Amino acid sequence: MKLRQINDAVSCLGAVDWNRRLFDSLIPLPDGTSYNAYLVRGTEKTALVDTADPAKTELLMDQLAGVDRIDYLVANHAEQDHSGTIPHVLQRYPDAVLLATPKGKGMLVDLLCVPEERIRAVEDGETVSLGGKTLEFLYTPWVHWPETMSTYLPEDGILFSCDFFGSHYATTDLFAHDKATVYEAAKRYYAEIMMPFRPTIRKNLEKVKGRDVQLIAPSHGPLYDDPGFIIQAYEDWVSEDVKNEVVLPYVSMHGSTERMVLHLTNALAEKGVTVRLFDLAVTDLGKLAIALVDAATLIVGTPTVHVGPHPAVFYASHLANCLRPKLRYASIIGSYGWSSQAIERIAQLIPNLKVELLDPVVCRGYPREKDLQALDALAEAVAAKHRECASTGRG
Ligand code: FEO
Repeated sequence: MKLRQINDAVSCLGAVDWNRRLFDSLIPLPDGTSYNAYLVRGTEKTALVDTADPAKTELLMDQLAGVDRIDYLVANHAEQDHSGTIPHVLQRYPDAVLLATPKGKGMLVDLLCVPEERIRAVEDGETVSLGGKTLEFLYTPWVHWPETMSTYLPEDGILFSCDFFGSHYATTDLFAHDKATVYEAAKRYYAEIMMPFRPTIRKNLEKVKGRDVQLIAPSHGPLYDDPGFIIQAYEDWVSEDVKNEVVLPYVSMHGSTERMVLHLTNALAEKGVTVRLFDLAVTDLGKLAIALVDAATLIVGTPTVHVGPHPAVFYASHLANCLRPKLRYASIIGSYGWSSQAIERIAQLIPNLKVELLDPVVCRGYPREKDLQALDALAEAVAAKHRECASTGRG
């Protein structure tokens, strides 16, 4: 990919990573990703904002072949998918000054062994003039590391936001005009790495809204020439409002738990509650994370394995606990053969979830009529709680 001109002074470079399917050896990337960097040319100085993943270093350095000088290299974020090519850029441009937050400076030294003397820490709100173009550095912490910042170019109303507002979405489109697709990819990205930091992100959004932003240029996925689209989406995701939805991740080994899950799903649906069902044996955990962004209730379905929940349920419960979604209610359903501590074990796994626990339904063996009636009662309890949420205007 060549440099793509955004306007007379700003161009987008970097790489589309069509085939990457896993990030951090953890996060599924069904749609690939991209690593965007931006070149900003003033009348006196030139800046490069972010770089690319180490796997794409050669590509980025080739794109810079016609760039004689870089005066400032801005590291909005020290994670390697954006900072990995920094040592190569600093080597080719020995006079370039690397700009980062104070925390970012320490991380760039630690993670990439960048010589400390090449880095200048910038203050929140500090500006650097390129001649007719200004870079303003806005601390936007915890999107998703503590050192993250965004860079604002006031003359053009462009916000270089790095991970913030980004999407793991490989595309040839420069701009996010396929809004439905980008919305899903951006929500997945928010859910997987930013959801735990909702209160801080809310403050960051206010900071961004205090600028006249005409274009958001993230370092993953397409750019937003309609910034209101993604800002509004983030405002919804970080709000305290929950939806009339149950997320129901489950595992079933011999069909008993599945029978309970399907009965509960139907009972909830009959009461007007949307259920998002995930068989953990086959599910994409990113989809589960997306569902957790808005839902009011989490119900975990598990069989019993060696007295506790199924290992896949351990993993999913731990994940939900780490992501700290804005859930209000939770419950557990499932089956066991001879004895079970599944309820206690799962409860221990989710201390971060500030939820009201609704009566669990756990039965020995295959569910009988009384167990199905207990599931009906759980469905009614969930529906009643959701009606309460709606009546308080926080539903
Ligand atoms: Fe895209 Fe946190 O790096």
